[in-house]
Parts: sequence; C-alpha cells; structure tokens
Amino acid sequence: MESVKEKLLNSSSSVDQTLDVLLKLDERPERRIIEAMRYSCLGGGKRIRPFLILESSSLFGVDAQAALRVAAAIEMVHCYSLIHDDLPAMDNDDLRRGKATCHKQFDEATAILAGDALLTKAFEVLSETITDASGEVRSELVLALARAAGHKGMVGGQMIDLLSESQPLELEEISYLQRLKTGALIECAVESGAILGRAPEFEKRKLGAYAFEVGLAFQITDDLLDVEGEEAQVGKKTGKDKDAGKATFVSILGAEKARNQALFHCQKAIEELEVFGDRASILRDLAKFIVTRSS
Ligand code: IPE
Ligand code: IPE
Ligand code: MG
Ligand code: MG
Ligand code: MG
Repeated sequence: MESVKEKLLNSSSSVDQTLDVLLKLDERPERRIIEAMRYSCLGGGKRIRPFLILESSSLFGVDAQAALRVAAAIEMVHCYSLIHDDLPAMDNDDLRRGKATCHKQFDEATAILAGDALLTKAFEVLSETITDASGEVRSELVLALARAAGHKGMVGGQMIDLLSESQPLELEEISYLQRLKTGALIECAVESGAILGRAPEFEKRKLGAYAFEVGLAFQITDDLLDVEGEEAQVGKKTGKDKDAGKATFVSILGAEKARNQALFHCQKAIEELEVFGDRASILRDLAKFIVTRSS
C-alpha cells in the first residue's frame, strides 16, 4: 500500500508540471483569469483521476507523456467542478484543498469564469494533435469527457445532489446520484486510458466495471470523511452534508454499514481486474487506498 501512495505522489508532480505548462501565465489584460485557474488547479488535490488515466493507459504501454495531457484535461474538469461546487449558490464552502476556495480568494464572478475556462481548456487540450496522432482517438476522448461532464454525468449528479437538500432520497437514488456526480468522471478517466491504449473491447468493459465500483467506493468514502474526518486533514470543512440536510449512505445506513458498503465496492472493483493479472496490481492497490484514505 505504501507504494501506491508513493506512486500517487510522484505522478502528482508530473501532473502539476503538465498543468503548469498548459496554464501558462502571461501579461495580457485578462491575466487574472489564468491566475484563478492556476490557483485552483496547481499544488493540491490527490490527483486520483489523473492517476487512473496514467495507470489504465500504462496497461497498454501508452507513453506517459501522452497520457499526462489527457490526465491534465480531466483534472481541469474536476477542478472546475470543485470551483463551482463551492460557490455560495451551491455548497457555499470557504475551504478547499487546505486553502481559501476560488470565490473567496478572488470573487464569485472570477470563480465562475475560471470554472468555465477550465472546462473549455480541457477540450482544447484533448483536441490538439499532440495529444494523439489519431483524429479518431482524439474524438473518442472528447466524446467520453463531454458525456461524463455533462447533464447525463457530473452536472446531472450535481443537480440531483442539490435537489436532495429538499427532497429525501432512497439508497438506490443516492447510488444513482453518486454514479453521476463522482462516478462519471472517474469512469471517464479509466476509459480514457483504454482509449489511448486502443484496448480490446473486452478489456475496456472490465476496466469500465472496475471504475464503476471505484466511483461508488470513492463517494461513500467522501461522505464518511465529511462525518468522521478532520478538517485539517481533509482540507475542507466537515459536517457539511448534515448541515445542508443532504441524504448520503452515511446518513441513511450509519457510518459502519456505509464503510462496509465502500469495502464491498472496493472488493468488487478488484475482482473486475482479474483478467489483467499482475499488470493491474497498482490499480488494485488504488481501490484499497480509496476506501482507507484520510483525505
Ligand atoms: C472531491 O474529490 C469531490 C468529489 C467528487 C467527492 P477529491 O476527493 O478527488 O478531491 P481532490 O481532487 O483530492 O481535492
Ligand atoms: C462534489 O461533491 C462533487 C463534484 C464537485 C462533482 P461534494 O460536494 O460532496 O464534494 P466536496 O465534499 O465538496 O469535495
Ligand atoms: Mg456538492
Ligand atoms: Mg461540496
Ligand atoms: Mg463531500
């Protein structure tokens, strides 16, 4: 397990370098928007989604430099989702990744624009020839990310999440919400690695099934950390879901059963990787890390 943490840390610095280059500061009048984008993208976060791309693409021998651009693109979409999630109109949070949220550090309008610009920049990065020589592969990457980020993916999940503050949800509905809100981007990360690697259909399906389970385990753990985590450790305010009246696995089942549910998804995720043998041992360890993490 130590090695997956080390690997995550190492790949985080490569992701940071890639983002640093892609979001280069210049002296134009609109410089403030790049400052806000960089503020929310650089130097923080666990970089789980980029890691998933790097690891799934490495199963098929994809060059890490190529995968890093796709990893940076998905991280940009993730960071945009966090900036908007923290806005007063949504979760109204002041702390993210251990520092002031984007709208606190800049202002609300700048935070909205920074989110918009990160979302569009991600598609620019995917579409550039240098990402992959094949136009077909680039268009598959764009399609996967557009679907994962949009109204049938992350944004749709955020909509249900907000509605859940005023209408109680059943467990099944919460699972659906989690799949969209968090799972879609996680699934897209793993799928993108397979797209870059021109993976055979069967292996793509196995990776998709792994990512589906990891996505659920990830969000249940996020909800557990909201109840049990230390603010200084998780880098964001805790107790928010209860304050907002949000139904989660934890609020319905209690912490212990929710934890068991996360472990169950982790186990199922690991089983889906059987076909890859030892080649997927880091992805297996990552599933374990996701349910035992403390931030
Ligand atoms: C937080 O995601 C938001 C959710 C989708 C639960 P992460 O826990 O991956 O946040 P960072 O990127 O590490 O800050
Ligand atoms: C946010 O979920 C997920 C997205 C940004 C898509 P949460 O609202 O639970 O995330 P945190 O707890 O603020 O990181
Ligand atoms: Mg939220
Ligand atoms: Mg939130
Ligand atoms: Mg949360």
